[in-house]
Amino acid sequence: MIRVRGKTIETLFSEEDIAREIERMAAEIAAHKPENLLVVAVLKGSFIFAADLIRALHRHHVAPEMEFIQLSSYGTGTVGGDVRIVRDLDGQIAGRKVLIVDDILESGRTLKFARDLMLSRGATGAEIAVLLDKRMRRVIELEADYVGFDCPDHFVVGYGMDVAHTFRELPFVGRVVS
Ligand code: HPA
Ligand code: MG
Repeated sequence: MIRVRGKTIETLFSEEDIAREIERMAAEIAAHKPENLLVVAVLKGSFIFAADLIRALHRHHVAPEMEFIQLSSYGTGTVGGDVRIVRDLDGQIAGRKVLIVDDILESGRTLKFARDLMLSRGATGAEIAVLLDKRMRRVIELEADYVGFDCPDHFVVGYGMDVAHTFRELPFVGRVVS
């Protein structure tokens, strides 16, 4: 437990846990010998994970390019739920093999939207890597290709993830307990 901003944070996944799983994920991705790989980080929550993952990919002799997209998701109903592009990619992705990187997979709506978008723009593949998977939250059928941790059903913060724009700087994933 640590205190930040007057709140008590319980660690769920430590810096060491995260570093170990990212190395494992990078080895799995590298084992598929991706050529011409374009990593697309879904902002904002994935920025630290994506930064660590591409450096781990380098250690596994994968040389990706990097792009960013920001999406926002509205509505929480099982049928509704609209996804919108807040900031689009800069470049063309036709003919590219894309790896979509996000912090957390929950309902699946945002990541399904992202994958369909990449494929509709001509990507030759669009795999998904997430640090955390909250399977109990899924409302559509979607599986990530690479997962760091199965995440318990808590609202988590740190390692890029926020509550009301705070706690992104924590080097581990935790939850606010009080
Ligand atoms: N933490 C932070 N951001 C999130 C979460 C979470 O658990 N779920 C969806 N966005
Ligand atoms: Mg967020």
